This record gives sequence, C-alpha cells and structure tokens, in this order.
Amino acid sequence: MPQVLAVAGKGGTGKTTLAALVTTYLLRAGKTPVLAVDADPNANLNEALGVEYDRTVVDTVEAVMGDGAAVPAGVAKRQLVEYQMHDALVESRGFDLLVMGRTEGPGCYCHANDLLRGFLEKLSGGYAHVIMDNEAGLEHLSRRTTRNVDLLLIAANPTVTAVRSAGRIHQIARSLKLGIAQSYLVLNRLNGAAEPAVRGDALAAEVERLASDGLPLLGEVPYDEQVLAHSMEARGVLELPATSSAAVAVAAMMAAAGL
Ligand SMILES: Nc1ncnc2c1ncn2[C@@H]1O[C@H](COP(=O)(O)OP(=O)(O)OP(=O)(O)O)[C@@H](O)[C@H]1O
Ligand SMILES: [Mg+2]
Repeated sequence: MPQVLAVAGKGGTGKTTLAALVTTYLLRAGKTPVLAVDADPNANLNEALGVEYDRTVVDTVEAVMGDGAAVPAGVAKRQLVEYQMHDALVESRGFDLLVMGRTEGPGCYCHANDLLRGFLEKLSGGYAHVIMDNEAGLEHLSRRTTRNVDLLLIAANPTVTAVRSAGRIHQIARSLKLGIAQSYLVLNRLNGAAEPAVRGDALAAEVERLASDGLPLLGEVPYDEQVLAHSMEARGVLELPATSSAAVAVAAMMAAAGL
C-alpha cells in the first residue's frame, strides 16, 4: 500500500511548489517510485516538476465515453477507458505524473469519477508514495476520487487571515470524512520581503489554536529566491540544489512527519 500525501490550501499559497518539493525530497531520499497526481483543473504541477504531458485523464474518459466517441461495437467502454488511462501517465525518472484534468463540466461526470477512482486505486498499488496537488477548495477530494489520505498538508501564508483560512479547510476536510490520518499546517513565506520580519503574537496564537484543534504546524518553507527563479523560467524544482533553503526545510518537515 502506498503512502498517500495530499497538499491543499487557498489559491496562491504555494501548494504546487510544496507538492513538487515533497516529490523532490522523496526522489532524493530514494523513497520511490512516486506517483504525482495533479488534481487541479488548472494543472501546473508538471511545470513545477519540469515535465510535459499530452492529455489528461478526463480527456481520455471523454474520448471514450463522451458524445460522439467512436467506440467499436463489442468493446466494453469501461475496459477501454482503463486501458487508455495508462496513456495519460507521464513516466519520468523515479516518478510518474498523472494529470486529472477538469472533472466538472456541463454534464455530470459522476461516472468519470467512479472510473477515475477505480483506476487510481489500482494504479497507486505500484508506488511507494502518491502525492496529490489539489485545487484550492478540496473539491477533488470531496468528489472522493481518492479514498484515504495518510498525510494532508494545508499550506498557508504566515498571516492570521491565511492561517484561519487553513483552519477552515481543515474543518471542511474533517466534515467530509475523507479518511485523513494526519493533517498539518505548513507556513509558506512565499511573499518574501512583503511579509513583516517580526511576527505578531496574534499569528502565534492562531497557530496554537489550530494545533489544539488537530492541525499542528509541521514547519515553514522560507522564501527562497531559487524557487522563484526556477518557476519564472518554468524549470521545475527538481533541479534545485539540495542545499536550497526551501528544499532543506521540506526535507526537515518530511522527517518530522515520519517520512
Ligand atoms: N518558498 C518559496 N519561495 C519563493 N517563491 C515561492 C515559494 N513557494 C512558492 N513560490 C512561488 O509562488 C508562486 C505561487 O506558488 P504555487 O503555484 O506553488 O501556489 P499554488 O498554491 O499552487 O497556486 P494555485 O492556487 O494557483 O494553484 C509561484 O511563482 C512559486 O514559484
Ligand atoms: Mg497550484
């Protein structure tokens, strides 16, 4: 059984970067193979990992199940979808990437979600770790395309408002009964100089409150110019030196989380 990790958080809190940094950590620590799943409809985990993809899983499902799909008579659609879903898998060194695509649309994709779940469950068995980058609102998790999550990382900027928002995401995740074994808050200082160097008691109190509510702080990802530089050039964080401050911080967090 793979260990399933998921990253959530409000828009622009550094989720995708964190998911890519965790993937980088797992690869460097030899905790492979890793399946990276991009569950954000506005998919860009591939860029953070420096790989390209041709089609999403939803593209595949639509090609077989959508209106006007040409499926030869006598071929079971379900089998065909499962078979073709493998085409959506991008294979790279030590990890594979699966881009889900947009599962909400004018029609109901419940059936697609069922297929997706079955496929993911079967597929993940072949990996040591699965890491999922999610859209801001956890819709994907709530559609239950993943069943159990061992470790949920909720990213937030280090402000009281952002930390409260992380707390709400934690409450939503809890109320959805998603089978999350452990959730942690991860503070991401991605605004660099824009963030005050001295942090107030109000932030510390809010972090404390979340911890007592079941969302302890795992650690902080410092502002790292190398991360930003890589992102600006769409080079991905896999090439970051292991000594980069963000990579060091994520490695320490993963160790603290028992990975
Ligand atoms: N620790 C960091 N240091 C410097 N820049 C960072 C850091 N983490 C993330 N960034 C930059 O901040 C920007 C937003 O990060 P990212 O795309 O990971 O956020 P996100 O939460 O996934 O956004 P979205 O909600 O749009 O999916 C990116 O340009 C990224 O390179
Ligand atoms: Mg993102």
